[in-house]
Amino acid sequence: VVFENSKTASIAVAHEIAALIRSKQELQESCVLGLATGSSPKGLYAELVRMHKEEGLSFKNVITFNLDEYYPMEPDSINSYVRFMKELLLDQVDILPENYNIPDGTLSKEQIQDYCAQYEEKIEALGGIDLQILGIGGNGHIGFNESGSLQNSKTRLVALDHITRVAASKDFSGLNNTPRTAITLGVKKIMEAKRVILLAWGEGKSNIVKASAEGTVTNLVPASFLQEHNNAIFVLDQEAASKL
Ligand code: GLP
Repeated sequence: VVFENSKTASIAVAHEIAALIRSKQELQESCVLGLATGSSPKGLYAELVRMHKEEGLSFKNVITFNLDEYYPMEPDSINSYVRFMKELLLDQVDILPENYNIPDGTLSKEQIQDYCAQYEEKIEALGGIDLQILGIGGNGHIGFNESGSLQNSKTRLVALDHITRVAASKDFSGLNNTPRTAITLGVKKIMEAKRVILLAWGEGKSNIVKASAEGTVTNLVPASFLQEHNNAIFVLDQEAASKL
């Protein structure tokens, strides 16, 4: 779906999410959202916060699972995804603190495997993710599932690609300070989400959007797996869609 610009696109996606939350409220069910970080979903979160503050959209029945976190990472560090999510969404709405989940970047290496299995079990116990929001890395990564990630990959500790670290290095004031690893939800759980919306804006994403949406389905471009999902859409601005 191609919009005039990222602002109108973000507002439209926020309205979809609000409709889902409200339909679940009517059924007295929880709404399980998979959330992403990066610059792409910022406008979406701003609109959801506005809808909470101005239109009374409640998040009391919402349970969220974030895709990823750098490892190691302290939650109050300036670049942590915990901080990002709290500042841009979670602390701005009425979601219950026990209802949001973000991979823990403070674990010891020995704890990570069990922790990741529990993260997936928690999602499964809720019946899976109702709606997964994704961004896309310049190399086609989703979450931090880099090139080479398998379609049935689990939630795990991964090594970040050089290109991903270079993109992140502006936030970490240089490549040397940029984490080399991260914890990411695996491709399998993303593919099991009932519905997936991938957001991409700008000319810089146009090549990888084309490869992901129209190219061969390959683990070299993990976003291409979404071609095999039965309810996944790419929401794009005109620049990101310009090579399709
Ligand atoms: C990071 C995140 C991804 C995100 C990607 C793209 O790598 N882990 O989940 O999709 O950045 O970021 P941006 O939206 O800033 O282009």
